[in-house]
Amino acid sequence: MTRLAGKAALITGAGRGIGAAIALAFAREGAAVVLAELDLDSAQQTAERIRSQTGKGGARVLAVQTDVTQSASVQHAASEAERTFGQPLDVLVNNAGINMFRDPLTLTDDDWRRCFAVDLDGVWNGCRAVLPGMVERGAGSIVNIASTHSFKIIPGCFPYPVAKHGVIGLTRALGIEYAPRNVRVNAIAPGYIETQLTHDWWNEQADPAAAQQATLDLQPMKRIGRPEEVAMTAVFLASDEAPFINATCITVDGGRSALYHD
Ligand SMILES: NC(=O)c1ccc[n+]([C@@H]2O[C@H](COP(=O)([O-])OP(=O)(O)OC[C@H]3O[C@@H](n4cnc5c(N)ncnc54)[C@H](O)[C@@H]3O)[C@@H](O)[C@H]2O)c1
Repeated sequence: MTRLAGKAALITGAGRGIGAAIALAFAREGAAVVLAELDLDSAQQTAERIRSQTGKGGARVLAVQTDVTQSASVQHAASEAERTFGQPLDVLVNNAGINMFRDPLTLTDDDWRRCFAVDLDGVWNGCRAVLPGMVERGAGSIVNIASTHSFKIIPGCFPYPVAKHGVIGLTRALGIEYAPRNVRVNAIAPGYIETQLTHDWWNEQADPAAAQQATLDLQPMKRIGRPEEVAMTAVFLASDEAPFINATCITVDGGRSALYHD
């Protein structure tokens, strides 16, 4: 398990869910990982779990309290990582994100701003923190966690898909901008993945059990995905196995977005 041996990676929102699974998968593949997370407790618990499951010492797994909406906060996490690991960051995964599912006309200005601050500005803040070093060294891989909401619209989910469409635009723009410097920028679009975010959404519905069943019924594979299944794709994109994959997006949804239904 050495597909990321010698690399250093920063993963935002890595305290739980998809980000935690990516951090664990990266560490198993030999990377030093920094968990840049708003909730420091969860990041420290996940870091401890990674250490115990991989046998890695503290110098290769780091938890840093980070708010991706603040560019200085992400810069600080990147600097801490480079200082602790004694090497520059090779990989960035912009994973931190929040759901914001509202009716457009009753959405508050604060909710609009919060959605874009985390789901789009947060991705840009991450890129801006690592790009100068990657461009200078002529190597790097950035993986942005988008969504199938980056291509499809479900009524009542506004403005989350607007921000996630923006993540694809940002991925393509930066991928093209820095391709001559061998910095690859790609996205992953997960479909339904079982995390706290998914359970929160079901629990907000009038009948959570019926909402969960309706979700499962719409899945071609009759199940939703696991965070580890997104992490496998992130490992691939971050590794040297994908040297000519750039400015694109890989969908990980069990075929859900290809399925026609009334
Ligand atoms: N779960 C799904 O079905 C699904 C589907 C498509 C896309 N996604 C995307 O995957 C990513 C991860 O989702 P998840 O389901 O694991 O969510 P989650 O809520 O389980 O985890 C998100 C993590 O991000 C952290 N976070 C939130 N705001 C932050 C901030 N400002 N700064 C730093 N960290 C912050 C949270 O504390 C949390 O630990 C998100 O970008 C989400 O939009 C999830």
